[in-house]
Amino acid sequence: MAERVVLAYSGGLDTSVGIGWLKDATGKEVVALAVDVGQGGEDMDDIRQRALDCGAVEAIVVDARDEFASDYLMPSLKANALYQKRYPLVSALSRPLISKHLARVARELGADSVAHGCTGKGNDQVRFEAAVAALAPELTSIAPVRDLALTRDKAIVYANKHNLPIRQSAANPYSIDKNVWGRAVETGFLEDPWNAPIEDLYEYTQDPNVNREADEIVITFERGIPVALDGVAYSPLAIVEELNAVAGKHGVGRIDVVEDRLVGIKSREVYEAPAAIALIAAHEALEALTLERDLGRYKRGVEAEWANLVYDGLWFSSLKRSLDVFIDDTQRYVSGEIRLLLQGGRAVVTGQKSAESLYDFDLATYDTGDTFDQSLSKGFIEIWSLPSKISARREASSN
Ligand code: ARG
Repeated sequence: MAERVVLAYSGGLDTSVGIGWLKDATGKEVVALAVDVGQGGEDMDDIRQRALDCGAVEAIVVDARDEFASDYLMPSLKANALYQKRYPLVSALSRPLISKHLARVARELGADSVAHGCTGKGNDQVRFEAAVAALAPELTSIAPVRDLALTRDKAIVYANKHNLPIRQSAANPYSIDKNVWGRAVETGFLEDPWNAPIEDLYEYTQDPNVNREADEIVITFERGIPVALDGVAYSPLAIVEELNAVAGKHGVGRIDVVEDRLVGIKSREVYEAPAAIALIAAHEALEALTLERDLGRYKRGVEAEWANLVYDGLWFSSLKRSLDVFIDDTQRYVSGEIRLLLQGGRAVVTGQKSAESLYDFDLATYDTGDTFDQSLSKGFIEIWSLPSKISARREASSN
């Protein structure tokens, strides 16, 4: 029996041609695996059929949307994860999930390798292969575009020659990756960072400069996880979808950055992630209300490290796992309600409450009823500033 390879299949030109290209170059039978992470667009059954028409021996579709939301997006939200303070890790979060299914299917079908359609210049190749290495170290990873020199021009020639059922969308100059957490757009005229993004790039968000009446929503959190919108309970996936619609309508979550890739290249990226940006704003506000100062401050360092690890393809690493335990523990009291005002590209927190709140009105108030004993501050400051005072004396005497 021929060896088998399981290919992460998107239905696009590169991975469609990749099926025959892999078979020709390696002699392996190709199993196509399409994972639904909420990328929308085409029907998954059509994608499955296309894989078979392109020569796959088997084509499998996995609806992983709920798993993606619950096991990947929610941990990222608890970590308020933004790579380089801006990017909510849209693609970086889907790769370990897709890899997990690649490794599972490869083992179930006795394949010796997996494949993906990434180039040799990006982060996604690293994420796929590092995840597979951690989950199924016996498998080899093959990247036809990178390792078997499958360029876009060759792909178009190959598709025409073999009459592959692929819509030639050579008109689209952008490289796009999307899922329910957001959308990433790169290349084309964006490669010059001086060029401003145009309205045409966006799909999840409306123009924030159009005048619209604001929307106000209340998000209920339980232990760091959003569980309801305006009092109505939803699954994590449904909350993300609902928020994409309402925050997207107000143009929330448009991001335009020059970002540092793991492979050393700086790249210009345009993202839109309405639900992610709205949820992180709300979650951070609830943490401000419920976390002790030291814990919140320390957590911010952990969050940055967590985002770096996930960006760098180390989702299944020991350090990431241990940081998850810490982050989960911090969420014990992160329960309550946040009111968000959505308008003009912004998600603004306008109300916050929690049964676990550490905010004490009687301590904070400047009105009567104040329970804070101000006389204690005098002695506190004496002792607090003592080290500074002593070293300042030394400074003065050593000159
Ligand atoms: N730069 C982002 C990342 O590394 C987005 C990658 C998007 N991928 C793509 N094929 N357009 O996570």
